[in-house]
This record gives sequence, structure tokens and C-alpha cells, in this order.
Amino acid sequence: MADIQSRVNELHQLLNQYSYEYYVQDNPSVPDSEYDKLLHELIEIETNHPEYQTVDSPTVRVGGAAQSTFEKVNHDTPMLSLGNAFNEEDLRKFDQRVREQIGKVEYMCELKIDGLAVSLKYENGRFVQGLTRGDGITGEDITENLRTIHAIPLKINEPRTFEVRGEAYMPRKSFFDLNEAKAQNDEQPFANPRNAAAGSLRQLDSKLAAKRKLSVFLYSVNDFTQFNANTQSDALDELDELGFKTNQERERLQTIEEVLEYIEKWTEAREGLQYDIDGIVIKVNDLEQQDELGYTQKSPRWAIAYKFPAEEVITNLLDIELSIGRTGVVTPTAILEPVKVAGTTVSRASLHNEDLIHEKDIRIGDSVIIKKAGDIIPEVIKSVLDRRPQNAEVYHMPTHCPSCDHELVRIEGEVALRCINPKCQAQLVEGMIHFVSRQAMNIDGLGTKIIQQLYENHKIKDVADIFYLTKDDLLPLERMGEKKVDNLLNAIEKAKSNSLEHLLFGLGIRHLGVKASQVIAEKYGTMDTLFDVTEDSLIEIYDVGHKLAQSLVTYLENEDIRALINKLKEKNVNMTYKGIKISDLAGHPEFSNKTIVLTGKLYQMTRNEASKWLELHGAKVTNSVTKKTDLVIAGEDAGSKLMKAEQFGTEVWTEDDFVKKQNEIEG
Ligand code: IVH
Repeated sequence: MADIQSRVNELHQLLNQYSYEYYVQDNPSVPDSEYDKLLHELIEIETNHPEYQTVDSPTVRVGGAAQSTFEKVNHDTPMLSLGNAFNEEDLRKFDQRVREQIGKVEYMCELKIDGLAVSLKYENGRFVQGLTRGDGITGEDITENLRTIHAIPLKINEPRTFEVRGEAYMPRKSFFDLNEAKAQNDEQPFANPRNAAAGSLRQLDSKLAAKRKLSVFLYSVNDFTQFNANTQSDALDELDELGFKTNQERERLQTIEEVLEYIEKWTEAREGLQYDIDGIVIKVNDLEQQDELGYTQKSPRWAIAYKFPAEEVITNLLDIELSIGRTGVVTPTAILEPVKVAGTTVSRASLHNEDLIHEKDIRIGDSVIIKKAGDIIPEVIKSVLDRRPQNAEVYHMPTHCPSCDHELVRIEGEVALRCINPKCQAQLVEGMIHFVSRQAMNIDGLGTKIIQQLYENHKIKDVADIFYLTKDDLLPLERMGEKKVDNLLNAIEKAKSNSLEHLLFGLGIRHLGVKASQVIAEKYGTMDTLFDVTEDSLIEIYDVGHKLAQSLVTYLENEDIRALINKLKEKNVNMTYKGIKISDLAGHPEFSNKTIVLTGKLYQMTRNEASKWLELHGAKVTNSVTKKTDLVIAGEDAGSKLMKAEQFGTEVWTEDDFVKKQNEIEG
């Protein structure tokens, strides 16, 4: 037993160290696989010996049981907000007021991170509670979700008791990945990283929050008695030393001129950051001076937030081009006279569909106002009508595909026009671009331009051909040196060993998103098993609906597809699932190996949350009640499934019964 305890301690120490190196210092010392390996070892120990589970174990990073609500908690001291400055004049006034009251001053300038304010409580060096700002007086307890953020230390090396505050945010890369996945699953994408971060921290199921890859920058200490600091700058340095993540772009500045320069610098440079900022915070650095300046009802007098303007600029709409997606959807794209918006040059913006162009009455030749939605995606807001030239043309979508000339169709109930020719070149190329994309086969270095060239030179005509590429095929391409070719061939080689779900997703099967690919790969294990799968069997899976089941079975029956898969197999592309199986986890005796159906309206959790919880506790959640069903959990207005359960004499629980059981299990 002493052995187990010492291994557990060692695993805690290593996992915490690796999280710190990766997420706080941005300087990992081991590959991700090493972290995963140790984490799984610890999960296994904790599953077999629950007495070794602790609330600050690194295993909490993967999330815990779903909650039904967030508890409201009063802040020890209110979480205030800052007064705003929108221009130079506002800032000079602030500076003047400060100097009038305290004389000589040093400022601490920090980036204003565009996320959500959070407050983190540590007791004897352990992270015990994390709250949202709420109304400033009362916040919500989101401890479970915050524990999944690797940049937040679960324990620090000194047994201090204090509270730190900062901004939780979603890095741009996580945001793009998340929206890409949402688009693949036909879900509404988030408008910007801030909303995505807020949505993630409001997840009742921390296992889902854990998948969202959030981070945090700490920017203030609530109670300085536990700190040696005399200035804001010292306090941030001390937080660094304790292992917290603070923003390193901060600067101590002496004059308002220097502050204005700092603002100017970051107005330009903000685009290059890996996270969004919406302004600059200027704080009086000295803590005694801060006290002297004091507070208004709502905000400190010793600080002010400069807010970047949401930049809108005018440019000319030169043309409207069409792009064809991998599913054949034809999207009109505005070709703009290049113009700088919020730090980058914009020359294209999606116009989404013909209806929208007519609704906004946008014509080729117009002057248009553009901005970046959520400061990222360029968007045409409207035409400037009093600048409309006489010859501005009303736009009409073509009747035929600009790539293959096949007639375009408008599918009932959809606004989009679609090319339905399966041999359409543009679609095939888009399909390959999808195949190599990050969440699919993740082949680095095989970008759109290269794929296009290879296709045009007849080096690849389907995705399997990618694995047949040689040095001689690649070297003649534009901007391709020996080194790049070697890297690319290595990336292709590496992709061969991807777990099955990457291949499944990469094939671009209609209605098959990242999530369903994962679940299906896990359940069936190999491509060969999938070849024999029936729609009925697929529909048993909670995340799989009729449309997807039908689409997948039809896809895999197709002779051309079978030939494609064989062509991939000949190059040793892996066709098996390599991840961990939820079914391999021990589960809970109450639910292990039980087949359960959820029906009716649930109030204390979503169906999806209920289903996830059941699966994690070893149950198989299916859609239809059969003789084999062990239990039906029936919410309000349960209909035919409940009747069937009564017919078969299946055990039935209400939502309350279920919640009670969950509480019993989780203590
Ligand atoms: S200091 C008394 N520093 O901006 C308030 N705030 O209203 C002290 N923010 O809600 C806040 N980055 O969530 C501070 N470096 C930074 C910040 C920052 C982002 C947010 C914070 C607050 C809002 C200001």
C-alpha cells in the first residue's frame, strides 16, 4: 500500500510539473503521449483503489460528474469592474487626476484579456473554489470546470491561504478547432473566443468543459497580507513564482506618453497574439498609492481600461466569386479591394448565400463597410448607398457549377445552392483538403495550393493517392525544397498510424462529424467490422441518428469506396481504433453492462449529459426499448417508449429516481 501511495505521489508531482511546463511556461519537456500515459496510469489506480482519489488529483483535469446547477456564492470582497477610456483625451484626464492626488506615479500597463473574470480561492496551498464574477457581489461556483484548466495549479508549493483573480479565456487555436468541429457537426459556431469560453465554463458537465482547452491569466491578488508585494508588479512576479500563469507582456511605464505608445504598439500587434484582447488596462503600480486613490461605487480610481474601437472600414466590392465546398455547396465570396482591418489585410469575405446578398442589396462595384466579426472573421456589413456607382450590378448566382458546369440545385428547405455531381473537381479537391485537415488525418504541410497542383498534375485523384506520393512527385511543385518534401513525406508516413476515427472523419461521409466518428470507431474497433454493420446496430448508439446511419451504410456498401479502402490498406494505413474504450473503464456495478433507454423531457440535466454520465458508469445507452432493455429513465411526457417498457415489464425510473441514484454514487 505504501508503494501505491508513493507512486500516486510521484504521478501527481510529474503530471503537475508537465501541466505547468506546457500550459504556464509554454515549454513542454515531454511529448503529450508521456502525459497521457501517466494520466491513464493514475486513472487506473484511482479506479481500482478509490481511496487514493483526491480533489486535487491531476485526474480531475478530465472532468468529473455532471452537476444540475451552479451554486451561487458571495464573493469575499466584491469583484469590481474598471472605468473605461476610449481615446487619448480620456487617458490624459485619468493621468491628470491621478497626479493631482498623489504626485509622482508609475503605471503598470497590462493587456486586457477578452475572456471572463474568475476568482480562485486557495486554502493551505490547495485550489478549493473558483467563482465567476456574476453581478460582482455574488458569483457562481464553477470550481469543477476550472479544475479542468491545466494553467490553473491544483496546488502550489507553499501552504498559503488567499484568493487570486484573473481572466479565463479560450486561445484562438482552440476556438478555431472548436468551431471547425461544430461546423462539421452542423452545429452553430461560436461568434468569438469570448463567447466560446463563457459557454464552456457554463457547461454543467465538466467532462465537456475539459475538452474545450481553456486557459487563464491571473492579474490580481485579493488580499495582499499573504504576499510580500508592495506593488502590482511585485505581486504579479510573486504569482509567477508560485506557479500561476500571468501575462508576460506587461510593462512598467512612467509617463502618459509612454502609456500611449504602449497602447499604439498593441493596437498593431494584437493580431499576432494567440488570444484575443479588447484593450489595455492601466494601473497605478504602487499599492499604497492605490489605497490612497481608493474606489468609487463601482470601480477603483487607481486603474482604467482603454478599449480598442471595433474597427469598421470602407472598401470596394470588386467582384463576387464562388467557392465550392466538399459537399457541393456553392458559396458566394466578396472579393474586396485589400484593406487593413484590426491589424490584418482583408481581401475576401463570405457573403453566405444569394438571399443574403439581395436582402442587404449588395452590388458589385459598391463601396461596402466591413468589420471583423468577433475581431476575426471578416464580414460585409452593408453597402454605402450614397456612394453607389451608376453601373453597380445586381448579382445573380449562376445556374451551373463554375467548376464542372453541372446544373446547380437548390435543395428544399435549404438556402444554399449545391452541385450534385459526385465527380466535380472542386468538390474532390475540397474533400482532399478535408482529409488532411487537423481533426482528420492531420497531415502537416499539405495545404490547399499543393493539393491543387498535385491534382492538376494528375498525381492524386483520390485521397489514397496521397500515400503513394514520392519525392519525384513533390519536388517539381512550386516553393518545394528537399527539406519541405522530406517533412511532408514524414507527415504522410506518420498519418498512416492514426487511430480509426481520424480516417473515418477524413473520408467526409455526409452527416459524420468528429464526435460520431469517435464513438463509432470505439464501438466497432476496425474498418472490416464496419463493413458489415447494419443501420439498426448503428442507431443503437446514442449519438447516431437515422440520417447518419443510412449515410454511413450506403457509403460503405459502395464498390468504389471499398476499392478506395483497399488502396489505403495496401499502403498500411491503420484501420483500427487505438484509443481507450469507455467500456474498458470499470464503471459502477449499478449500471455496468446495463442497457438503458432515456426518454421524455429531463429538467435537471440534458439528455446528452445523462447519457454521458450513464456511459461513464458502464451503461450502454440505446434509443429503442426492446426485450433486452434493462432500464428506462422516463422524464416528463414520455410517450411510446414508456408504453413499450410497461409492455415488456422493464424497470422504469423517473428523473428524480435517477438524480437520487447519482447523488448516492457520488456521495
Ligand atoms: S484588473 C477592479 N487587469 O476587464 C477590477 N482586468 O472591467 C480589476 N480584465 O472584469 C480588474 N484583463 O475581467 C484587470 N489585466 C487585466 C485584465 C482585466 C482583462 C477584465 C476583467 C474586468 C474587466 C474590466
